[in-house]
Amino acid sequence: MAKLIAVANQKGGVGKSTMAGNIADAFAEMGEDPFVADLDRQNTLVQWSSMAGEGEGLRFVTGNLSAAGRNVHSELKKFVQSSKFKHVFADCPPSVDDKTPITSMTLMVADLVIIPVSPSPADFWSSAEFVQEIEKARIHNPTLKAAWLLNKTEANRTLSAGILEAIADTGIPAFKTVIPTRECYKQAMAFGTSVLMMTDRGGKAAAKEVRALAKEILEFLES
Ligand SMILES: Nc1ncnc2c1ncn2[C@@H]1O[C@H](COP(=O)(O)OP(=O)(O)O)[C@@H](O)[C@H]1O
Ligand SMILES: [Mg+2]
Repeated sequence: MAKLIAVANQKGGVGKSTMAGNIADAFAEMGEDPFVADLDRQNTLVQWSSMAGEGEGLRFVTGNLSAAGRNVHSELKKFVQSSKFKHVFADCPPSVDDKTPITSMTLMVADLVIIPVSPSPADFWSSAEFVQEIEKARIHNPTLKAAWLLNKTEANRTLSAGILEAIADTGIPAFKTVIPTRECYKQAMAFGTSVLMMTDRGGKAAAKEVRALAKEILEFLES
């Protein structure tokens, strides 16, 4: 049975789709057989994967499941039980103004939720409310693992003590690997590929970070 990894946050623009696609591509590279379920009507993953030519681009299959609406948890459950994939990523919509509670339903059946968050205090405070979603999901899904993913950090700068303290206060761990803001994430998406394919300096640094993160995620899943 595939492991279900949700990438979720109540906010939009925190890098859910960007990180889901790049991490999944790193999983493909490691032979970890990923599928990405695009649960957002914005269809970012499906569009991204359609940007490259034959034989190039993202090395995983993706499909939009947002039409499943309130049945999304049973559709996902069926999918992870019957599919040949080892890992299914669920790229969630922002849950804040979600009339169909796609994110909370996904958390009911997920093995792990990765929560991308920007390390600015205001962004972190609003994302910290997401912890309640996780606590609710754990009533039905007590084995749900969760971790923050600090995204759009400043390269070569350490995180402020204030942010580290705010993270610790949530009781949810953060991945050791942080992802700096790098232009190559936008370029890679425009080319229909991941940063793992980039050959310039920033791209190579991003590739190294994403590979380290993917390894860390696999270890966390197995812990
Ligand atoms: N580490 C990063 N460096 C640079 N740009 C990023 C990074 N992560 C995300 N972005 C950009 O931020 C914007 C929002 O990202 P997206 O993945 O669509 O967020 P979400 O899915 O949470 O709404 C996009 O323009 C994306 O290219
Ligand atoms: Mg998105």
